[in-house]
Amino acid sequence: MAIERTFIAIKPDGVQRGLVGEILGRFERKGFKLIALKQLTLSQELAEQHYGVHRERPFFSDLVKFITSGPVVAMVWEGDGVIAGARRLIGATNPLEAEPGTIRGDLAVNIGRNVIHGSDGDETAQFEISLWFKSSEINDWIPSDQGWRKE
Ligand code: RTP
Ligand code: MG
Repeated sequence: MAIERTFIAIKPDGVQRGLVGEILGRFERKGFKLIALKQLTLSQELAEQHYGVHRERPFFSDLVKFITSGPVVAMVWEGDGVIAGARRLIGATNPLEAEPGTIRGDLAVNIGRNVIHGSDGDETAQFEISLWFKSSEINDWIPSDQGWRKE
C-alpha cells in the first residue's frame, strides 16, 4: 500500500460543537501522521473553489454559506492508504446512513451538518492540499517510533 496524503477539514459545526479533539484523536489513534494543521475562516472564493465540483447542485449555495459561517480546522494527514482509510473513518455523507463507529455515524445526524470533510480520491487530495496549504506549511517529519512500527 502506497504512502499517501489526504486533506481533511473539520467543518464549522464540528468546531462549534467542540469536537476537534475527538476527531483528531481518532486519526492519531488509527496511526495516521499529522503533517499540517491550521484553523481558518474560509473566504467565499476558497469555499467555491473547494466545492467547485458541486457548483451546479441545488445545495451548492447553502453548502458555501455553511462552510464559510465560522472557523474550520484544516489538516493534511499522511499514511498507508490514508485517502480511502480516512473516508472509512469518516463514514457515509448522510450521517443517518453512516455506520456506528464512524465519525459521522457517531457524531452527526444531518447531511448538511456532517462535521468533517475528507478528499475522495488521489487527484482530489492533491488539488485540495495545494488549494488550502502552502508547501512551507507542510511538515515532513519522522515519528520517533517509526523504527519500532511495522514497515
Ligand atoms: P465532503 O466533500 O464534505 O467530505 O462530503 P462527501 O464527499 O461525503 O459528499 P459530497 O457528495 O462531496 O457532498 C459535499 C457536501 O455537500 C452536502 N450535501 N448535501 N442535500 C444534499 O443532498 C447534499 N448532498 C451533499 C454535504 O454536507 C456533503 O458533505
Ligand atoms: Mg466530497
